[in-house]
Amino acid sequence: MFKIAPSILAADFANLASEIKAVEEAGADWLHIDVMDGHFVPNLTIGPPVVASLRKVTGLPLDVHLMIEKPDNYLEAFAQAGADILTVHVETCPHLYRTLESIHKLGKKAGVALNPATPLSFLEPILEEVDLILIMSVNPGFGGQKFIPQALSRIQTVREWIKKYNLKVDLEVDGGISENTLSEVVKAGANVFVAGSAIFSKNDYNKIIRQFREKIG
Ligand code: DX5
Ligand code: ZN
Repeated sequence: MFKIAPSILAADFANLASEIKAVEEAGADWLHIDVMDGHFVPNLTIGPPVVASLRKVTGLPLDVHLMIEKPDNYLEAFAQAGADILTVHVETCPHLYRTLESIHKLGKKAGVALNPATPLSFLEPILEEVDLILIMSVNPGFGGQKFIPQALSRIQTVREWIKKYNLKVDLEVDGGISENTLSEVVKAGANVFVAGSAIFSKNDYNKIIRQFREKIG
């Protein structure tokens, strides 16, 4: 039930295939792929062709985090590229129910992400419609930022809802997750841990992923 999802944003983009093989062999559960559009977030990353190329070199589930405006226009392209989970930001989806329905119609798991300052109440109407809830613990856009501790009580609240309504939902946390912050987010109730710089800045991926597992307990 606990999953470690290295974010390739911090990987060596000139050697993506070997970076991914290395974290796969080190025991990563999912691969987290950050898609940024320069509008919703102030950074540009990758699009569907790169996801399609990655699909060919790994069997890991591709957890695609869409930090883009008008995500509806791109869902099909990312689905065809081989994404397994498509996560949209509530801040970009005026018709969230419809967007989640579109993702499910494409045969993919649907995730919903919230920025650190977005009220959790946005989730209440769609709790039964999602496969994954992503609580951001930094403002999205860049790797290597500092963990925002207010994310902990938000994770706790969502975990309580999951229990109360008996939902089958993964609770993911993304931003500033390292060997130092992991224990706290585990305790708060997250079960999917995204980490970019904490993993890819190390020379030994086996060691850091093993350390993560030990902290998860
Ligand atoms: C931030 C991205 C994250 C990022 C995390 O906008 O959504 O997935 O790669 O990077 P670290 O783990 O370095 O905070
Ligand atoms: Zn992300």
